[in-house]
Amino acid sequence: MRERIVVTGAAGFIGSNLCKMLLQEGYSVVAIDNLLAGTLENLPEGVDFKKVDVCDSDFSRYVEGAIAVFHLAARNCLDDCAKNPVDTARINVMGTANVLQACVEYKVPHVIYSDTSAEYEGINMFPSKIDSVKPMSIYACSKRSGALMAEGFKNYYGLNISTVRYFNVYGPAQDWRRVIPPVMSAFTIKLLQGESPFIYGTGEKRRDFIHVDDINRFHLMLIREKLIQGGTYNLGSGEDYSILEIFEKIESEICSGIKPIFKPELSGEAFRTLADISETCKTGWTPQVTLEAGIKSFVAYTRERLRLG
Ligand SMILES: NC(=O)c1ccc[n+]([C@@H]2O[C@H](COP(=O)([O-])OP(=O)(O)OC[C@H]3O[C@@H](n4cnc5c(N)ncnc54)[C@H](O)[C@@H]3O)[C@@H](O)[C@H]2O)c1
Repeated sequence: MRERIVVTGAAGFIGSNLCKMLLQEGYSVVAIDNLLAGTLENLPEGVDFKKVDVCDSDFSRYVEGAIAVFHLAARNCLDDCAKNPVDTARINVMGTANVLQACVEYKVPHVIYSDTSAEYEGINMFPSKIDSVKPMSIYACSKRSGALMAEGFKNYYGLNISTVRYFNVYGPAQDWRRVIPPVMSAFTIKLLQGESPFIYGTGEKRRDFIHVDDINRFHLMLIREKLIQGGTYNLGSGEDYSILEIFEKIESEICSGIKPIFKPELSGEAFRTLADISETCKTGWTPQVTLEAGIKSFVAYTRERLRLG
């Protein structure tokens, strides 16, 4: 019988890519999402989809028999979280506690909590090391609270929890419908449509981009190699690029000749993200997808998606 893995937030960007990889690796996948932001079209064929809210009181039954639970479901758009702080706490904190409690009830051997580099947004020392965090925004504080819940469940109930702190993830199925989409999607879509993308601020902000395939390569290692389970890991590339450099790289792939339009700075955004991945690399993992190769495949993917409508 195929081993069963539960993914919450499965219809979202990272979750849907994770489901796809798990199916390819031969696992049976229970895909949980309430479709707050995710879409059914993201879900790969072959998953057992349950339209469920992670805060539901009868959530626990979905994790029965799972060898691992990946908890990705979250409200995670900065602006959206700032406008809905109570509901953000309900989903990102209460929802996380609910998922963790279910895992205790059904003795799930391993839980993976998806954390964020926004944990570092108040710290101006780079690269960011896992042991000093200073969340500032509602989003980051809610994710920190979820991570603290995970610590509590680890210490008090002995739950085996690994925490993965993603930096700026990009790749297929990235959520481009947001009012302000993630920068990689925003630039690529606009340029392919022959329009000028917006750059908020001067374009000097720097980001550590990591391809979703590299994230999933680490996810796979985590479920297969017991020795590395239970830690907290930064998942970034360990290199940062300015937003302007990202624009130039995408533009040189598309060759549209279009220039960006500069808009006022968005409030609450970190000036820089850069991961210290030295601890993560000790597990044997290293990022494999170069930014150039990742942008090339992302542009090709986006071009095809726009063609299909
Ligand atoms: N994308 C990134 O660059 C990035 C960076 C750092 C951390 N993260 C974390 O990774 C995880 C996944 O992010 P993503 O980019 O795939 O986001 P996403 O918005 O594409 O996916 C999140 C999914 O969770 C679902 N969801 C929200 N509330 C839910 C609820 N109450 N019950 C069930 N499902 C619910 C949404 O419908 C959506 O499909 C999140 O926990 C996020 O905080 C993402």
